[in-house]
Amino acid sequence: MKRIFALLTILAFIQISVLAQVKSPVYKDKNAPVETRIKDLVSKMNLEEKILQLNQYTAGQNTNINNIGEAMKSIPAGIGSLIYFGADPEYRNAIQKKAMESRLGIPILFGYDVIHGFRTVYPISLAQACSWDPALVTEAAAVAAKEANLSGVDWTFSPMIDVARDARWGRVSEGYGEDPYTNATFGVATVQGYQGKNLSDPYSIAACLKHYVGYGESEGGRDYHYSDISMQSLWETYLPPYEACVKAGAATLMSSFNDISGTPGSANPYTLTDVLKKQWKHDGFVVSDWDAVNQLIAQGVAADRKEAGLKAFMAGVEMDMTDNIYFQNLKQLIDEKKIPMAKIDDAVSRILRVKFRLGLFDQPYTTIVDESARYLQPESKAVAQKLAAESMVLLKNNSNTLPLTASVKQIALIGPMADNKANLLGSWAAHGNEKDVESIAEGLQKEFDSAAKITTAKGCDFDGNDEKGFAEAVSAAQASDVILVCLGEKREWSGENASRSTIALPAIQEKLVQELKKTGKPIVLILSNGRPLELVRLEPLADAMVEIWQPGVAGGSSLAGILSGRINPSGKLSITFPLTTGQIPTYYNMRQSARPYAGKYQDIPTEPLYWLGHGLSYTTFAYGDVKLSTASIKKTDKLTVEVEVSNTGKVAGTETVLWYINDPACTISRPVKELKYFEKKELAAGAKTTFKFEINPMRDLSYTDATGKRFLEAGDYFVMVNNQKVKFTVTE
Ligand code: BGC
Repeated sequence: MKRIFALLTILAFIQISVLAQVKSPVYKDKNAPVETRIKDLVSKMNLEEKILQLNQYTAGQNTNINNIGEAMKSIPAGIGSLIYFGADPEYRNAIQKKAMESRLGIPILFGYDVIHGFRTVYPISLAQACSWDPALVTEAAAVAAKEANLSGVDWTFSPMIDVARDARWGRVSEGYGEDPYTNATFGVATVQGYQGKNLSDPYSIAACLKHYVGYGESEGGRDYHYSDISMQSLWETYLPPYEACVKAGAATLMSSFNDISGTPGSANPYTLTDVLKKQWKHDGFVVSDWDAVNQLIAQGVAADRKEAGLKAFMAGVEMDMTDNIYFQNLKQLIDEKKIPMAKIDDAVSRILRVKFRLGLFDQPYTTIVDESARYLQPESKAVAQKLAAESMVLLKNNSNTLPLTASVKQIALIGPMADNKANLLGSWAAHGNEKDVESIAEGLQKEFDSAAKITTAKGCDFDGNDEKGFAEAVSAAQASDVILVCLGEKREWSGENASRSTIALPAIQEKLVQELKKTGKPIVLILSNGRPLELVRLEPLADAMVEIWQPGVAGGSSLAGILSGRINPSGKLSITFPLTTGQIPTYYNMRQSARPYAGKYQDIPTEPLYWLGHGLSYTTFAYGDVKLSTASIKKTDKLTVEVEVSNTGKVAGTETVLWYINDPACTISRPVKELKYFEKKELAAGAKTTFKFEINPMRDLSYTDATGKRFLEAGDYFVMVNNQKVKFTVTE
C-alpha cells in the first residue's frame, strides 16, 4: 500500500512538473536570463512562426470604427511588428491580446515614427542641434517616449543621424546637420532619452538609428537617388554617428535606400554584417526602410522580389518593413538551401532579444491613462518651451534692432507665417495637432499685451504670385515702429520626398519684403524653415534676422521672449547657410583646396553667408588667449586647452564654445577643421569663466583609413576656438 502510495505521489509530482512546464515554459519566466529565454522560445517555434517574426505590417491607418475589426482580422497574430499609426492604447491592446493568446504568445512590437515629439511637438532635429544642449534633447526625447508609450508605441524610428550637406535634400530637417560629431552627440542624447537607463523601464521605447548608412549623400539632394560614397567618406563621415549610438546601446537600426559604392544600404553585407554585427557587436536587429527590399529591383541589384529578399536577408536585414517579401519568399529560399536555418534563427533571436529587453513578454499591454494625463503635461510643455528658445538662432542684429525697446509702441506683424500654426510643427510631427500650437501672433500678443499694439497682415501666401495682400501689409508697416516679417517654408516642403532645386524662398515672399523695405521702417525677418535658406537677396533688406526653424508647439512664445528680450538668444547654427544654392555643397569641415588662393567662383563670393556655429546674443563675449597645458605631448599623453570667456555686455547670456582640431599634414588629408568638443555655459553680465577641452590624442587626433582602421600620427596639430588657432606637437 505504502509503495503504491509512494508511486502515486511520484506520478502526481511528475505530472505536476510536466504540466508546469507546459503551462510555463522557460521563455515565459521573467527571472530567467534573456539569452536562455530566447533559446528556449526559438527551439519551440515552427518555421512559419519564425518567418512571421521577420515581417512588419501596418495597423491603425484606417480609423473608421467599422473597419477596425476587419483590419484586425487581416493581421496575423504571430507577426513580428506593426507600424502603429493610431494612438489608441485600447485598440493596440486588443491586437496584442490576439498575439498573446496565439500558440506561443509572442508579443508584437509596435513601431512608429516619433521624430521630434509625439503630441508635445518639439523643434525639428536640425533645430535641436542648434541648442548645443544634449541634456535638454535627452529630456525632450524622454517626454516623447512617455507620450508614445502610453499611446501603445514600443519602438520609434528615430533618431536620424545621417550627416547631410546638401540643403536641397528635404531630409536635412530630420538629422543634426553637416557634422559627424554633432550627429553622434545628439543621436546619443536622443537614444538615451528614448531608452532610459534600461529598455524595460516604464515608458522606455526602443530607438532605431536611421538610415544606415549614407542616405544624406543622395545625389543633387534628390531623394531616393543614387549616392556615390567612397569607403573613406563612409568611414570618416557617415559611420561615426552610428558607431557612437550603437555603443550607447541603440536597440535597432533601419537600413537605407541609398547606394554605397554601388551596393544599396539594404543589401550591403559589409555595412550590415561585417561592420555592424561583427565589428561593433550589435546584437539587436535591422529593419529595412519602407519598401527598401522591393526597391532593390529598381536599384538594379535584384531581378525580382525573391532575389531582393535573398540579398537583403543575407546581407543582414532581419525585418522586412511592409513589403511582404520575406513573408512570401523566405520559406522557398530555405527549401532551396539559399538561406541556412542558422541565419533564420539568428535573425529571429535578434528580434526576440529586443522584445525581451523591452519587457514585452512580461508586460505586453499598454497601461490605460486618460488622454488628459498623457499629453502636453506642464512639465512636457516646459521642455518644449526651453528647447524651442535654445534652438532659435539670432542671425543678424544691426544697431541692436533687437530686443525691441519700450519705445516700440506699434508692431506690424506681416507674412504668411505670422498667424500660422500647422507649419510651425514641421514634417514628421507624429500626432501633433495644430490646435496645440502657439502661433507667432498669439505669442507676441501675450508677450507685449498692452505695451505695444500689434497689427497683423498676411501680405502674401507662401508661394504663388498673388500680390493683392501687399497693400494692407504696407499700410500696416507704415503705421508701425518696427516690421516683423514672418517668412518660411510650409511643413511639407521638407522631410521625406521633399527635394527642392533651390533653397531660396519663393519670389513672392522676397517681393513682399522689397515692398515693405520702401517704408523705411526697421525690418526684422523671422524665418521658419526645415533647411538652410538662400538669403542672398533678403539679408541686405533686414536689420535683424531670427531663424526659428520649425519650433513645434511652443514656437510663438519662445520667439516672443526673444523679441522682447525676456530670453537672450543662445542658439548657434548646426549647419552652414550657403550664400546661394549654387554654392552647395559648402560645409565647414571640407578639405583644403589645392590652391586656396584661387578657384573661387567668378560670379559670386565663395564664402557662405553663415558657417556652422554662427549665432549672436544680446550680450558680447570676449575670448582670452588660448592656453595649452604643454606645447608638446606624447601620443599616450593628454593635453588640456583652456580659454577664458568674459561676458562684456550688460545682460546675462549663454555662450557655447566650439573646439576644433586641424591636422595640416597627414597620410590621408584631413578637413580644414573638425569639431571635437563643445560646452555651453551661462554667464552673468560682467562674469568670466574658463572653458576647458582635454585633448585625448587617440580619440581627438586620430583618423581612419578606408577600412576603418585608426591611426595616430606624430607631428604638428592645431586647436581652434573662436578665431584663434594654436599649434601643438605630438611625438612618439
Ligand atoms: C522613411 C523612414 C520611416 C519609414 C516608416 C520611410 O519612408 O524613409 O524614415 O521611418 O518610412 O514610416
